Amino acid sequence: MKYSAKDIEKIIFKYIPTAKGYQAKVMEAMEYAVNAGGKRLRPMMMQMCHDMYDDRDDEALHVFMAAIEMIHTYSLIHDDLPALDNDDLRRGKPTVHVKFGEDIAILAGDGLLNYAYETAAKAFTIRPADSAVEQAYIYLASKPGIYGMIGGQTLDVMKSGKQLSDAELEYIYINKTSALIECAMMVGAVLGGADKEELLLIEQAARAVGIAFQVKDDILDIVGDEALLGKPVNSDEKNKKTTYVTLHGMEKSAAYVEELSENAVRLIDSLSVKNEDVKRELIWLVKKLIDRDK
Ligand code: IPE
Ligand code: IPE
Ligand code: MG
Ligand code: MG
Ligand code: MG
Repeated sequence: MKYSAKDIEKIIFKYIPTAKGYQAKVMEAMEYAVNAGGKRLRPMMMQMCHDMYDDRDDEALHVFMAAIEMIHTYSLIHDDLPALDNDDLRRGKPTVHVKFGEDIAILAGDGLLNYAYETAAKAFTIRPADSAVEQAYIYLASKPGIYGMIGGQTLDVMKSGKQLSDAELEYIYINKTSALIECAMMVGAVLGGADKEELLLIEQAARAVGIAFQVKDDILDIVGDEALLGKPVNSDEKNKKTTYVTLHGMEKSAAYVEELSENAVRLIDSLSVKNEDVKRELIWLVKKLIDRDK
């Protein structure tokens, strides 16, 4: 299998800054959060989507892979803060605010978010005057933002302890979780040379993958094993979150994850790619997420 978390880490760690100077503390916290582990799914899916269309090595892709993992990691640091989900374990280690204090955790999140764009901007000199790089940067700027991940997180925290309509629940899932997966897959595909029609199909597939991923995350929050997950179980109950599982029950939720994954697989299968082998690996990964235990 070409796409392993270890191989992805070799690429992304190259772009994590070395802690030095008066501000070393914030960089230590950034490094701590990224190094802690994680499945590296977003950079992995980005690379797969790139390689489906063009599997040559591309440093411009690498800087975007590092950037998406930095943005994802920042979202986890801030999601765990006392003011949000107030969790003390992440990726099997004490959360950044537990280890470094809340002030440094907030700044480490800010630092990762900003450094993601500093890193991805290197692609402008690696592939100068290339509209694919420009489009990729636009996805990286917009999908994690107020019309994407931040929007979803906003409704998620505002609605803690409150009832949700189906439309609100869907908004939360599509934005807090699907948006970064859409970002990852679309950045990869556009850098690999995918055209507009393909990108639209990929966006739809990523949306389904993201919703399935969050519903499964909500299931694992109830029935998962803390040691395997590397984060606390029953966080949603503690925070009185309304989730797909609290609204529809365990059985319907599991069936929904399967249905969404099948939709995603169908969409991915319909893509006109150059490398069918990579497409198979992506489909295999999407299917594997249904039965994941972490
Ligand atoms: C956790 O994402 C946040 C959600 C969107 C549910 P991951 O489950 O991908 O976390 P890591 O990167 O493996 O730690
Ligand atoms: C948050 O969803 C997704 C993010 C945008 C970070 P959760 O709050 O359920 O994620 P976990 O369970 O803490 O990883
Ligand atoms: Mg949360
Ligand atoms: Mg959380
Ligand atoms: Mg969760």
